[in-house]
Amino acid sequence: MSDKTILAIETSCDETGLAVVRQTGERVTVLSQAVVSQIDVHALTGGVVPEVAAREHVQVIGSLIKQVLKEAQIAVGKSQLDAIAVTVGPGLMPSLVIGVQTARVLSYLWNIPIVPVHHIAGHIASALYKSKQLPDSQSIAPNEFILTPTTNLYPALALIVSGGHTQLIEIDSSLSYKILGSTLDDAAGEAFDKVARLLGLPYPGGPHLSELAAIGDEKAFPFPRPMLHSGNLNFSFSGLKTAVLYTLRDNSTAHKANIAASFELAVIDVLVAKTKRALLDFVPAQLLLAGGVAANQRLRIALTDLASTYNIPLSIAPLSLCGDNGIMIALAGLVALKQSRTTSWRDINAQARLPLY
Ligand code: KG4
Ligand code: ZN
Repeated sequence: MSDKTILAIETSCDETGLAVVRQTGERVTVLSQAVVSQIDVHALTGGVVPEVAAREHVQVIGSLIKQVLKEAQIAVGKSQLDAIAVTVGPGLMPSLVIGVQTARVLSYLWNIPIVPVHHIAGHIASALYKSKQLPDSQSIAPNEFILTPTTNLYPALALIVSGGHTQLIEIDSSLSYKILGSTLDDAAGEAFDKVARLLGLPYPGGPHLSELAAIGDEKAFPFPRPMLHSGNLNFSFSGLKTAVLYTLRDNSTAHKANIAASFELAVIDVLVAKTKRALLDFVPAQLLLAGGVAANQRLRIALTDLASTYNIPLSIAPLSLCGDNGIMIALAGLVALKQSRTTSWRDINAQARLPLY
């Protein structure tokens, strides 16, 4: 296979993620990447306001593209790129549209195809195609990946936990996805953010809450483990959030770190229990963990313990790729490009709700 070089664009929520990657054989090298987070802006309102997010994407996307192309030594307009991968959904419509429209214009100008990427396929790719080089502790993005799916490690079972999704997904060797379970209400990250807000922590709450939880007593409050015995692989986190609300209301002197630790443990217990059930039911050949909440150290440890108990290979997205970023979209995009899943600038549209493909 000849070299393929692509530009990837991610704007589904509140991070503008760009990457230029080159695939040579099975090896993928990240030539450049950039993520601009809008945390400071959304912290002012305690959450993401979609129109504000879109405006922020507009302000930075042009200069970021220029920056990543320059860093990757790609001359604009010289058709050194083979395609543009872009997140088409799911996500916030105003945010998605910025990335998709940008991809559309560049595709027209440069006369190269677009590879539409599903955001969750991107998160899956961040754990499926492991970096060979850099350990988790490194905050810069790993710059090399191996794209070949190891055929004997399928079916894979992925636990995807983010601000918008909580899903258990089965992935077969042809990389088709089957959703085994999803949240019926709040996503795990959303629950972290909402409870953090109840505790008076800044946006986005997940990382702040887990930091506070580290000094708390996880057994202080016996919060419910929603749907633990539901007999299926679905999740529900909104009741847990309400339980925290009532606890705060009824215990004005409660130590917030204890609430944070007890809440975090309740979420992780449910995530681990459902993953364990899926392991037993579907007997996958490997387990994957990805998405923003996969940055949670306690969850990483709990899943590592589960995998070792059942002696199943586990791949966790590197910390630098847990939150939304361009590299994960590039990885999923290269696979889609190989499968000729491209489209023209005429036909691509952002989709706020988009079934996993
Ligand atoms: O994947 P992501 O960047 O965006 C979406 O696709 O939603 O995930 C963001 C989510 C937020 O809810 C954030 O609070 C959560 O991931 N998160 C965490 C941690 N770091 C980020 N949740 C719990 N513990 C963390 N350490
Ligand atoms: Zn995401």
